[in-house]
Amino acid sequence: MLTIGVDIGGTKVAAGVVDENGEIVAETLRPTAADRPDVVAETVADVVRELATGREIEAVGVGAAGFVDESRSMVRFAPNLAWREEPLQKKISGLVGLPVVVENDANAMAWGETRFGAGRGQSHVVCMTLGTGIGGGLVFDGSLYRGRWGMGAEMGHMQVLPGGRPCGCGNVGCWEQYASGQSLVKEAREIAAAHPERARILLGLAGGTIEGEEVTEAARLGDEASLASFASFADWLGQGMADLASVLDPGCFILGGGVSRAADLFLDRARAAFAERLTGRGHRPLAEIRLAELGASAGMVGAADLARLR
Ligand code: BGC
Ligand code: NA
Ligand code: ZN
Repeated sequence: MLTIGVDIGGTKVAAGVVDENGEIVAETLRPTAADRPDVVAETVADVVRELATGREIEAVGVGAAGFVDESRSMVRFAPNLAWREEPLQKKISGLVGLPVVVENDANAMAWGETRFGAGRGQSHVVCMTLGTGIGGGLVFDGSLYRGRWGMGAEMGHMQVLPGGRPCGCGNVGCWEQYASGQSLVKEAREIAAAHPERARILLGLAGGTIEGEEVTEAARLGDEASLASFASFADWLGQGMADLASVLDPGCFILGGGVSRAADLFLDRARAAFAERLTGRGHRPLAEIRLAELGASAGMVGAADLARLR
């Protein structure tokens, strides 16, 4: 039986028809305005209609970057998008006439990776998506942990630095301000403003404003400020994983999201920081830290599978 998985990102909606083995049978991509909730629902309906043409589709799973309620229908809050008490499930199912399940984007990714990717065969999995923010997903003994009200695993909003950078959620010092794609850019901009001589390559590439991919590119070219940003990112990432391990004791961490594509610039250091800061180190096994295997499709595949199992 086929289901459709939809991944709503900040700038685009990616959707795919997925079979019971997690194989993508067909897929499509559409730009969207994430700051316009009504437009997003229309875009999702559009891609679903396109993909459902000539196919028997059982249900639709939607991954959304926000706090989804326990009935998996409403996005109650989104730190980095405009959703507030958004009845996404109702809107989309009304438009397409199919059962719809809404899930947090990182939960969907964690589910996809655990079922079909880097977490196969693992009983205690902690997933993180490193993108604009940090998304979290926990899969224990084959089931997705959602918390009492559906909003569990929001690890990006652990407040790691009192008085730190303001976060989209309204608090300050959240982990996602120090170990996400957004944080890499903020860090690089701060260093470049204070010490432009350390950011010569980066400033040359960026022209005006420093943006995400430029920090990665400049780091690969040896830009000092960009390398320092990745080093700081890696240390914060490792420390956060050590804290998560002290609570959750996972067998493996899986890192996905856009920044994970630059793993050559941070993974070794993050692993070292994790091992150095883990409480009880030397007297416990070290959890593995793996990269996601399904790449950009993890959320889509996970959402489709969750719709199948609804
Ligand atoms: C949001 C999460 C989301 C993550 C990744 C965070 O800022 O709070 O709900 O999963 O970003 O998109
Ligand atoms: Na989550
Ligand atoms: Zn926050």
